Amino acid sequence: VFLRANPVLVLRDPEYIKQVLIKDFTIFAERQGTVYEKAEPMTMQLFRLDSVRWRPLRTRLSPVFTSGKLKDMFHLVLNCSDHFEKYLNETVSKDGIVECRNLTSKFTVDVIGSCAFGLEMNALKEENNEFQKIGRRIFRTTPKIMFRIVLREIPWIYKYLGYILDDHDVTEFITNITRDTIKYRKQNNVRRHDFIDTLIDLKDNPDKLGVNNVTDEFIAAQSFVFFAAGFETSSSTMSYTIYELAQNQSVQEKVRGEIKEVLNSNNGAITYDNIKKMSYLEMVFKETLRKYPPVMYLTRKPVRNYTFEGTKIDLRKGLQVVIPISAIHNDPNIYPDPEVFDPERFSAENMEQRNSMYYLPFGDGPRNCIGARFAVNQTKIGLFKVLMNYKIDVCEKTQIPIVHAPLTPVMLQTTHDDIYVKLTKLA
Ligand code: HEM
Repeated sequence: VFLRANPVLVLRDPEYIKQVLIKDFTIFAERQGTVYEKAEPMTMQLFRLDSVRWRPLRTRLSPVFTSGKLKDMFHLVLNCSDHFEKYLNETVSKDGIVECRNLTSKFTVDVIGSCAFGLEMNALKEENNEFQKIGRRIFRTTPKIMFRIVLREIPWIYKYLGYILDDHDVTEFITNITRDTIKYRKQNNVRRHDFIDTLIDLKDNPDKLGVNNVTDEFIAAQSFVFFAAGFETSSSTMSYTIYELAQNQSVQEKVRGEIKEVLNSNNGAITYDNIKKMSYLEMVFKETLRKYPPVMYLTRKPVRNYTFEGTKIDLRKGLQVVIPISAIHNDPNIYPDPEVFDPERFSAENMEQRNSMYYLPFGDGPRNCIGARFAVNQTKIGLFKVLMNYKIDVCEKTQIPIVHAPLTPVMLQTTHDDIYVKLTKLA
């Protein structure tokens, strides 16, 4: 099939998927997307970089989200979730009708700001918050953005014209915020051993990336991708979970029951370990990502000509492979009645019986999602706050079934309209 102007090979067989993502990763270490250093500096980021520049960068950035680091950050996420709870108490109106995407994006902006950048984003405190607006702009579908995507397919033209089409406000905003934060930390000798400190370290020691110089734009591009990749994916996952819980009352009661039980047996303490113990909450989260994977498909391309073992399928160097996550997750032969929201699909027994390549919301192999554990953690804490305080129901404005946007500028699946539910304060 063709993806825009390019021929691509679509893989659905789990063995071949495993071959590409894991076994022969050294050959498939790159994905679609070109880096345009001058025309679009924000493309110089982890997601798009070629394998030579990607490898040392990934090695340096991976320690930012180890489970030890997540444990250390837990109090920051909890703090944001307290603000989230307060925000809900203050803003949920009498009729209880709320728009989920706006609500959850405020929470995720604050969490990513606090944990990755060490900044108070204040999205929950300010109605027209700048970070939230920038986050939204990154994922807009405008004629200019669609034209930019088409023109990117012609790299020799894009190299010269791309600059005109770049979203300069977003580039400047992210570059300035990263530069100012780094400057502040250096001047005030602040060390938090987080994402920004890692970027400072790379800027001061470019040899760690095997280069002589690391530009401000390169550093800002990494901030851009952490913010962009973390913002929309996590907030849409939270929104879809709330939407499904509104329609599935028995699941909602069961997950709330589990939360209460875990808290009661631990003196009401909300800790990292207690949240981890909530296995049904985990199943609900997994089922949401099964039904609504925010990233619709994975891509990889071989760095040399490649033949799939035992076949005559030859891939030319650079030809793209697409792994259609959304189609696999909604295939009735793999997940019977895929439109039904059923967390039991993720019980230990059911998972054991399924090929692990049939569940890929965070991709797999060495180039999987670097923020996966962080995303799981923050989403669960946010959901926990909603479930402990409110009963969730559908309302007249709830769109059932949901309609997905036909066009999206990136690989993300987004909704066409807002997601409304009704929240009623629990006694
Ligand atoms: C529910 C939330 C999220 C989902 C579903 C998700 C999904 C994904 C997927 C499918 C990929 C491609 C993996 C592959 O090609 O094998 C990816 C890559 C990536 N994600 Fe996430 N993501 C989420 C949250 C986050 C967060 C919170 C961050 C950062 C704080 C993040 C940062 C990244 C980055 C930087 C990459 C590129 C990794 C690389 O090329 O080395 N993501 N994500």
